[in-house]
Amino acid sequence: MALLDRELTVPLRDGGAASIRSARPGDARALSRLVDAVAAEPPATLLMMPGDISPREWRRRIAAAAARDTSLALCAWLGGRLVGNVIMAADPHPASAHVRMLGMCVARDSRRLGLGDALLETAVAWAVAHGAAKIELSVFADNAPALAFYERHGFVREGLRRRQFVRAGEYHDEVLLARFPGPES
Ligand SMILES: CC(C)(COP(=O)(O)OP(=O)(O)OC[C@H]1O[C@@H](n2cnc3c(N)ncnc32)[C@H](O)[C@@H]1OP(=O)(O)O)[C@@H](O)C(=O)NCCC(=O)NCCS
Repeated sequence: MALLDRELTVPLRDGGAASIRSARPGDARALSRLVDAVAAEPPATLLMMPGDISPREWRRRIAAAAARDTSLALCAWLGGRLVGNVIMAADPHPASAHVRMLGMCVARDSRRLGLGDALLETAVAWAVAHGAAKIELSVFADNAPALAFYERHGFVREGLRRRQFVRAGEYHDEVLLARFPGPES
């Protein structure tokens, strides 16, 4: 089962503390609220539009992540509210079985507190312990906060795909980023 073995308490920069644990099916509604709120923010940072992923679909994704030892769904709670998440899944191609794809977000009012740091490093450490040798993700090219965040965490730019996505009628360029946490072969 792909679950974090325990709930972690994470000290935040403002003196508060959040908890990080594996997502449970009962988190689906709260997860949906978080991701919809981030998806509604200008400027756009996520591929999906608000409402694209229903609570039912979140429940399915949480169960799917728990069922494989190559995938992980984490959520962060602060003051009784779900304020952050990470989803990590294996690349489906057998020749890329060492690769994990990652996506994450933190609620706007909980950013710059160190929660993103804690979520990302928890997920990466778990993935390495479960056989990952490359973590990859992509961000919109104009998402400067996310680029700064991932580069601070050792991700390097692997490429740029121009006009890769259309969201709300607008083209977005995609920057591909990767981190190689283990010894490279
Ligand atoms: C990217 C994101 C997850 C970062 O989460 P966070 O909890 O704010 O991150 P942290 O507080 O742990 O920040 C860690 C470091 O990342 C960098 N960083 C984070 N936000 C930044 C910003 N807006 N501008 C510049 N650097 C930033 C900084 O180096 C920061 O350290 P510092 O605060 O000491 O300078 C969050 O901004 C977010 O959810 N954005 C919207 C969704 C998104 O873009 N997701 C990624 C695309 S898949």
